[in-house]
Amino acid sequence: MESENQIPKLEDLKYEILPEEYPNYDLTFKIIVIGDSFVGKSCLTNKGTKNMFDESYNATVGFEFVTSNIKVNDQVCKMQIWDTCGQEVYRSLITNFYRNSSLAILVYSIDNLESFENLDIWLKELKMFSNPDAKVFLIGNKTDLEHKRKVTFEQGEAYKIDNNLDFFMETSAKTGFNAQKVFIESAKILYIDYVKYKDRVDKSRSSSVHSSIIKKGSLNQSIKPSNITPHEKESKCSC
Ligand code: GTP
Ligand code: MG
Repeated sequence: MESENQIPKLEDLKYEILPEEYPNYDLTFKIIVIGDSFVGKSCLTNKGTKNMFDESYNATVGFEFVTSNIKVNDQVCKMQIWDTCGQEVYRSLITNFYRNSSLAILVYSIDNLESFENLDIWLKELKMFSNPDAKVFLIGNKTDLEHKRKVTFEQGEAYKIDNNLDFFMETSAKTGFNAQKVFIESAKILYIDYVKYKDRVDKSRSSSVHSSIIKKGSLNQSIKPSNITPHEKESKCSC
């Protein structure tokens, strides 16, 4: 049984990127990528999972689905990534994807102040429709456009702290800066969540076994040794 002090630290976790077609997995995590249109959600998802970048803009209609397999310590994590469209006209469609997602990657673009100011709207929708335990990663994309920067790194970091988000990082889908790291860190954080959950389940199981033993004792039932067969004696002793 894992105990609280055996829960690994993020920085101590080992990871390995596995091929997309890797056949086996131990854990599945559902991730949604959200944020204003044109901030680079699709490019970041493609760069981070397939090392591909497309300069031309193809607005996502509805959503696109990508998987990525990352082994964290001894567990193969299948990441089911739902890259959603940012256009307002489709907004009501994507709220369905919020449910059951373990993590939301919330993207703005560092050269677009409006995409940063609109984060409040995205967070409000997340609160309304997503699982309350879902993690939120804040990503400031397009760092290669430094000369056009409208949102500082410090503003992004302050937004993460003020809104109690789980992670903040700047990326560039174009150069690849931190693109893969977004998904590696997602897998690691969700893996730690899984270990904590398993620890809680194991503890509650052992405490419910314990409470059932106490309950039997409280009925003051005495079992005479003569009533116990050798097999029963053995099992009593092993308790
Ligand atoms: P919707 O699907 O409409 O919600 O947009 P999106 O957020 O998925 O944006 P998308 O990934 O399609 O990128 C929009 C435009 O920005 C495209 O022309 C990309 O080539 C460009 N782009 C994306 N990421 C970067 C980046 O890191 N740097 C630069 N310079 N351009 C980028
Ligand atoms: Mg898109």
